[in-house]
Amino acid sequence: MDLLSSILIVTNLLFFFFKISYGVPDSITPSQILSDGDTIVSREGNFVLGFFSPGSSKNRYLGIWYKSIPVQTVVWVANRVRPIYDTSGILMINSTGNLNVIQNNSVVWSASTLKEAQSPLLQLLDTGNLVVTDGNSEDYLWESFDYPSDTMLPGMKYGWDLKRGLNRRLIAWKNWDDPSPGNFIFEITLHNYPEAYLWQGSAIYFRAGPWNGYGFSGSPGLKPNPVFAFKFVYNQDEAYFMFTLKQSLHSRALPNQTNSMFQRFTWTEQSWKLYQSLPIDYCDTYALCGAYGRCLVTDSPVCQCLKGFKPKSQQRWDSLDWSQGCVRDKRLSCEEKSTHGFLKFSGLKLPDTSHSWVNTKMNLEECRAECLNNCSCMAYTNSDIREGAGCAIWFGDLVDIKQFPASGQDLYIRMHPSELGSGRKLNKKKRVVVIITASIVSGLLTLGLLWRLTWKTTNRTRGRKKEDVDVPLFDFTTVATATNKFSPANVIGAGGFGPVYKGHLCNGQDIAVKRLSKNSRQGLEEFKNEVILIAKLQHKNLVKLLGYCVQGDEKMLIYEYMPNNSLDCFIFKQNDTLLAWPKRFDIIIGIVRGLLYLHQDSRLQVIHRDLKASNILLDINLNPKISDFGLARAFEGDESEVKTDRIVGTYGYMSPEYAVHGRFSVKSDVFSMGVLMLEIVSALKNRKFFHPNHHHNLLGHAWLLWKEGRALELSYTCLEDSHSRSQILRCIQVGLLCVQKFPEDRPTMSCVYSMLTNEEAILPQPKQPGFFIERSPSNSGANEESNIENAVTITMPEAR
Ligand SMILES: *[C@@H]1O[C@H](CO)[C@@H](O)[C@H](O)[C@H]1NC(C)=O
Ligand SMILES: *[C@@H]1O[C@H](CO)[C@@H](O)[C@H](O)[C@H]1NC(C)=O
Ligand SMILES: *[C@@H]1O[C@H](CO)[C@@H](O)[C@H](O)[C@H]1NC(C)=O
Repeated sequence: MDLLSSILIVTNLLFFFFKISYGVPDSITPSQILSDGDTIVSREGNFVLGFFSPGSSKNRYLGIWYKSIPVQTVVWVANRVRPIYDTSGILMINSTGNLNVIQNNSVVWSASTLKEAQSPLLQLLDTGNLVVTDGNSEDYLWESFDYPSDTMLPGMKYGWDLKRGLNRRLIAWKNWDDPSPGNFIFEITLHNYPEAYLWQGSAIYFRAGPWNGYGFSGSPGLKPNPVFAFKFVYNQDEAYFMFTLKQSLHSRALPNQTNSMFQRFTWTEQSWKLYQSLPIDYCDTYALCGAYGRCLVTDSPVCQCLKGFKPKSQQRWDSLDWSQGCVRDKRLSCEEKSTHGFLKFSGLKLPDTSHSWVNTKMNLEECRAECLNNCSCMAYTNSDIREGAGCAIWFGDLVDIKQFPASGQDLYIRMHPSELGSGRKLNKKKRVVVIITASIVSGLLTLGLLWRLTWKTTNRTRGRKKEDVDVPLFDFTTVATATNKFSPANVIGAGGFGPVYKGHLCNGQDIAVKRLSKNSRQGLEEFKNEVILIAKLQHKNLVKLLGYCVQGDEKMLIYEYMPNNSLDCFIFKQNDTLLAWPKRFDIIIGIVRGLLYLHQDSRLQVIHRDLKASNILLDINLNPKISDFGLARAFEGDESEVKTDRIVGTYGYMSPEYAVHGRFSVKSDVFSMGVLMLEIVSALKNRKFFHPNHHHNLLGHAWLLWKEGRALELSYTCLEDSHSRSQILRCIQVGLLCVQKFPEDRPTMSCVYSMLTNEEAILPQPKQPGFFIERSPSNSGANEESNIENAVTITMPEAR
């Protein structure tokens, strides 16, 4: 028996080695050739190198494509301009490291290394990069990432190596069947303040705009988000853009000659899904409105002269030919340059940087002085908007200025002193909008959101009045009528801030009206400002604020109505088929996304402070939407204040430091999220939890099971498939990490997100949860969870 099993083990091992050493290689040496029909495959099996025929063509090309993606998606082509007309092509690497694609003894493509190699190796990496290395050296003597075809892959430097004069740019295929270079090109343009241009032939087709620290000024969708990270490097040696992925998925970006777009795709189970397209809209048409004209896609006509400027030719302008642009109302004289001033324009894609200058060390004040001092300087602004740092200035006419309906950047434009007086007034009025718009630049600021905001500003339903803010004000009678005079029969819930009514507007729309209790200490203006801020928090996992209503000391918030009520109506039913595990997991992820947005991705950090199952509403497809966010802030004022004497929250979800000391931070929300996760997994309420053997709450119970290695017993159901089981286990572990006693031990929301979505992530071991104390038996489970906003006011002695 023993002998037999040893033999079995040995043969197994042999088989194992056999497989490894005789698998498809990922490299070739000078003694090998790659003929048409052969391939090499990167080590983890991401990419393949071989000969292929594009589309319906019979021509053969050497290229790289994804191994696991069923629709052949070629990311790189060697012999773009010289196809091989039969299958006799071969690839060789010669003894000094040079690459040659040969057909019938003639070289159709070659590539030479930076220096001669001693023992060269051509290897295909899992990034999709084909590299030549020498012996044990880590350096690449040549790499395909330096000579991209049309596709930008994660980790690829796209732009300039200034030392080598190498310009890595993307040139579209001529068409689907022909990979030879078209005339549609995306490249980093080396202005002093570099930017990205899409060229169509020799004409600029679209500018992505200069890099502003977050992204290209004209492409707000590039802001960092949970999926992509973006980087732009500009120094003496290099000027490049790069994207990387924070999750394991496939993504590629490329210019497409056929539809004249630069598009980014991600692979979902069966197809490439479009993530982003440039240009975004008509206003991206290069220099559409001429010099000093600005394009706003929601305006009609889209072009207008900037304030202080008038059409150069009124007649042409009136016939919708804007190409001549605008000129100043008041000419500037260089002799009087020190009397000039600057007008601030906001919400812009910065103008073309062909004639620009940049200094990353200067602040805005120094930048202004620098610009004022040189009378050919027409505008200045920060070169990096993340911290409001650096200086960029423009010389000569300002062209290709787009105005975003939301987001966008500030630009200070030189003006004749007489233009400043009236301008200032306008400036002040505009400022409200600017601050707001700045606060909503978010990862999801894609077309959809732009469209929504546009819609909001252009369509105001009857019954609402236009204020100088962006959030519709509903008048009291409209709301009273909609809710049947606040009839008790219309009450659909009550939160910490007052009752919620269902309402029905006469235009057919259903609304939810939150009638705030009257103990807000805020004045009307402050309240309005907060409403604006809340309204600007937009994310698919947040309930959308439609408007507000003020009457005397009545303050109301009007939300979209959620037909499926709140999460607590579903999750505590053990055998609810509607909310089977995959849906529960989706809900957890959705809530985490919403919180991640509140905590991190919206400019303005918002701590929810009352996250619980009844505050998660479900839309028609059972997608979760967080409600009541921003209210604590609206009621308390300064969010950066970390200590409060008024505790808004719900027992059972509150972190110890908040419940006991009134200290809150993003980590208090993390705690509540942990409770919610454990509730969703177990279908049990933390506060109502009762166990025959001990008097711990749900957290304590989960912790005891975890310590005994029986965590899966917490699950509300026993699932057959191991994938779901490992997901449940992961949720329990992450849940326990979130409810740890000390805030500093708890993960941030972005960690929570990546721990839940990345199945390979190694999770830390949780420590003891907060509130790990047994309750007295008489108490346990008896109380309905109670909202303590009004019930308990804990007054803490001032610490300062
Ligand atoms: C390798 O190929 C390059 C270019 O084709 C050529 O210049 C070089 O001499 C070759 N090296 C050897 C050792 O043949
Ligand atoms: C380019 O655009 C055309 C038209 O929209 C589309 O059919 C084609 O698949 C696109 N090519 C690539 C490589 O995405
Ligand atoms: C103003 O700036 C331009 C562009 O950099 C430069 O050519 C010119 O010499 C400057 N003029 C003065 C007076 O500094």
